Amino acid sequence: MCKVCAVFLCFFAIYFIRASSCLKDVVLKIEPRVVQLGAKSVLRCTYDLEEAPLYTVKWYRGHHEFYRYTPKEFPSTKIFPFVGVHVDLKSSNEHQVALEEVGFNLSGNFSCEVTTDAPHFTTRVVSADMLVVVLPVLPPKFETEKTLYDIGDILKANCTSAPSRPAATLVYYLNGQVVCEKCVLRKHPTGSELFSSSVSLELPLFPSHFHNGRLTLKCLAEIGDLYRREVELSLYNVNQPRPAQRVTQSSASIAMVKINIGLILILHLCNT
Ligand SMILES: *[C@@H]1O[C@H](CO)[C@@H](O)[C@H](O)[C@H]1NC(C)=O
Ligand SMILES: *[C@@H]1O[C@H](CO)[C@@H](O)[C@H](O)[C@H]1NC(C)=O
Ligand SMILES: *[C@@H]1O[C@H](CO)[C@@H](O)[C@H](O)[C@H]1NC(C)=O
Repeated sequence: MCKVCAVFLCFFAIYFIRASSCLKDVVLKIEPRVVQLGAKSVLRCTYDLEEAPLYTVKWYRGHHEFYRYTPKEFPSTKIFPFVGVHVDLKSSNEHQVALEEVGFNLSGNFSCEVTTDAPHFTTRVVSADMLVVVLPVLPPKFETEKTLYDIGDILKANCTSAPSRPAATLVYYLNGQVVCEKCVLRKHPTGSELFSSSVSLELPLFPSHFHNGRLTLKCLAEIGDLYRREVELSLYNVNQPRPAQRVTQSSASIAMVKINIGLILILHLCNT
């Protein structure tokens, strides 16, 4: 390579390194990133201008720009109407946009695009996802056909989650173990805005299913790591008497009450 070319390339490289070094650490944080329908979420865009003047910060939902901050213009903030986007101007500035009353269709990709002013006009775009949810208000509805079973009976149950978005996933546990997938039938979540999941269970019962004449069946409803709620039922073997454990448990708690009363009396006596 010729000397002149090398020198030229070198200058070129230095120019670009300097140009790109005047805008760095552009980060977009959505807080909260998972937000309840109708609530507020703040999108924060932090950046290091390294002394370069700021030209503009543009905000996008998908490819649609909805907010722009340009310090040299008056007013410095501009809103581009977009159905479903409600910007709280008081809480929005060169670093953040506050969204109010978020709707389901705001779920998705948000971007913040930062551009520095002359001479470099460097631009950086960063993106982050928002998820608008409605969590179930009620626990799942969980029913079995009956509570007393014989060996060889088919245990039949239904579990239906309360309406939510996204729909909850449902899992059955028998004595603490996940029930085999071939014993359960999942129905398609139903609903228009909010969705209910439903899973039914049919399982032939063996002696090994009962411990002291009892088995526990649980239905767990989950939405990612946002929501987790379970309902547990106890079912009994028709041929085995109910376990005596419950009685001992209650007599134990009566004994505890006695001890507590005794303690209170002693404390009371010590104080007086
Ligand atoms: C989000 O949107 C920006 C700008 O429209 C785009 O560059 C980026 O690839 C998108 N990201 C995802 C994960 O879709
Ligand atoms: C967002 O939802 C509103 C009503 O909730 C609707 O009018 C609007 O068309 C939706 N916008 C988009 C981009 O889907
Ligand atoms: C489960 O749901 C189905 C259909 O809705 C119904 O026919 C059945 O009786 C239910 N079973 C139980 C145990 O509730």
